[in-house]
Amino acid sequence: MNQVSEEKIIIFDTTLRDGEQSPGASMTKEEKVRIARQLERLKVDVIEAGFAASSPGDFEAIKAVAAAVKDATVCSLARANDKDIAKAAEAIKGANSKRIHIFLATSALHMEMKLRMTPDQVFEQAVQSIRYARNFTDDIEFSPEDGYRSDPQFLYRILEAVIKEGATTINVPDTVGYAIPELYGEFILDLRNKIPNSDKAVWSVHCHNDLGLAVANSLAGVRIGGARQIECTINGLGERAGNTSLEEIVMAIKTRKDYFNLSLGIDATQIVSSSKMVSQITGFLVQPNKAVVGANAFAHASGIHQDGVLKARNTYEIMRAEDVGWSANKIVLGKLSGRNAFKQRLQELGVTLDSEAEVNEAFGRFKALADQKSEIFDEDILSIVSNAGVKDQADHYRFISLAQHSETGEKPQSKIVLQVGGQENETSANGNGPVDATLNAIEMQANSGAELLLYSVNAITTGTQSQGEVTVRLAKGGRVVNGVGTDPDIIAASAKAYLAALNRLHDPSQEKLNAQMAQ
Ligand code: KIV
Ligand code: ZN
Repeated sequence: MNQVSEEKIIIFDTTLRDGEQSPGASMTKEEKVRIARQLERLKVDVIEAGFAASSPGDFEAIKAVAAAVKDATVCSLARANDKDIAKAAEAIKGANSKRIHIFLATSALHMEMKLRMTPDQVFEQAVQSIRYARNFTDDIEFSPEDGYRSDPQFLYRILEAVIKEGATTINVPDTVGYAIPELYGEFILDLRNKIPNSDKAVWSVHCHNDLGLAVANSLAGVRIGGARQIECTINGLGERAGNTSLEEIVMAIKTRKDYFNLSLGIDATQIVSSSKMVSQITGFLVQPNKAVVGANAFAHASGIHQDGVLKARNTYEIMRAEDVGWSANKIVLGKLSGRNAFKQRLQELGVTLDSEAEVNEAFGRFKALADQKSEIFDEDILSIVSNAGVKDQADHYRFISLAQHSETGEKPQSKIVLQVGGQENETSANGNGPVDATLNAIEMQANSGAELLLYSVNAITTGTQSQGEVTVRLAKGGRVVNGVGTDPDIIAASAKAYLAALNRLHDPSQEKLNAQMAQ
């Protein structure tokens, strides 16, 4: 194996595109902008903000991200046709640095069964699409979808041609998560060796985690194959088993610099806040034993380990919790804190609200929470701003109040007041438990016909004073949406989460074409 000199790895984050394709993870424009700002603080090199042609909502979200982001390159995905490419170009027009990412399937299976095209037609379309994209930017990425299961002979031909036409990054997706680390690394090395102009492009890895190997495959693509761009998502978010997890790949390269000898532009201290933000916005919880960002990742439960860590930290720790942004829950604000203190803490947390009206609205929520809960932590503030902004005004279903009664031996009863389409109504229902009664009372008004796929409760901080964070996943008419609600009262949090999910089902701009199904 060749020893490579210290070169930079480009971190291409696709949380807002491939991550968002995870059923239920769809984000609003405001949420995408918030995450994009956090990705800038994390110092990722490229932000794939969405798939412009997938929906008018996604087009607008990419535009907003392009306007908000200053340093990172902003990218939109596009199918290999003029219409998609023009849409992508239009969406990223306002960015300081822009990339168009074109994909077209190249495996025999996908070409025959999905595209119903011959290899020659795919070849022509790929080349033509790069030619067209060059009208808008010089930074063009090409992905042969299902690349890892494609015939290498066909890839030599098509990739040489797209590089000649002007593609500057060649990404080799393991679309279905079928690869094995050594084989994937050798696959990329072989392509680089056999394609005469391969040195004119940056080679990139894009791995899915169906066999739990996405991070290992990506590392092999870098180490064995010589790829210099890694595509990944925060928390490994993504369809099915997800994508390569940014936090794991970054910390593997940093912690084992002795082996990889590669540099990264990432500010690792922003990893935990990025993970929490994505989890809070999407409602996809992070498992406690998840590497780097799981709640237990740095907890030493066994007595022997604790003893060792106290004597010499590196006996059992290979990374320091603070280096990835873990800090003990700190009480940061309380009931008497004023607007300025609140605003300053928002700044310290890197949260930018778009207007003074939004700050006022968030401050109002903070005051209401401080009345219910004497100690306010950073996590509480982040949950408050998760709910700040214009979306409230547009919401079809709004929570007004809840009264709930439970007594041993009796069926719990809930009375809920909601605003539905601007009109206030009250309904009461009972149920098997207080949450069931509350959701039944909501359904008496909403009559949604949606199927409940998931209900989960999580404590935002520690202790019984913590706010409960509830995630609800609903399915209706082929769409799957998540809703997240927070409140010190977990029954109210459940009602808010359920209403958030109903609002998403109600919002047509959340309907999107899925890239993998979209050709
Ligand atoms: O997994 C995949 O093949 C993709 C492409 C669109 C790059 O996400
Ligand atoms: Zn993918």
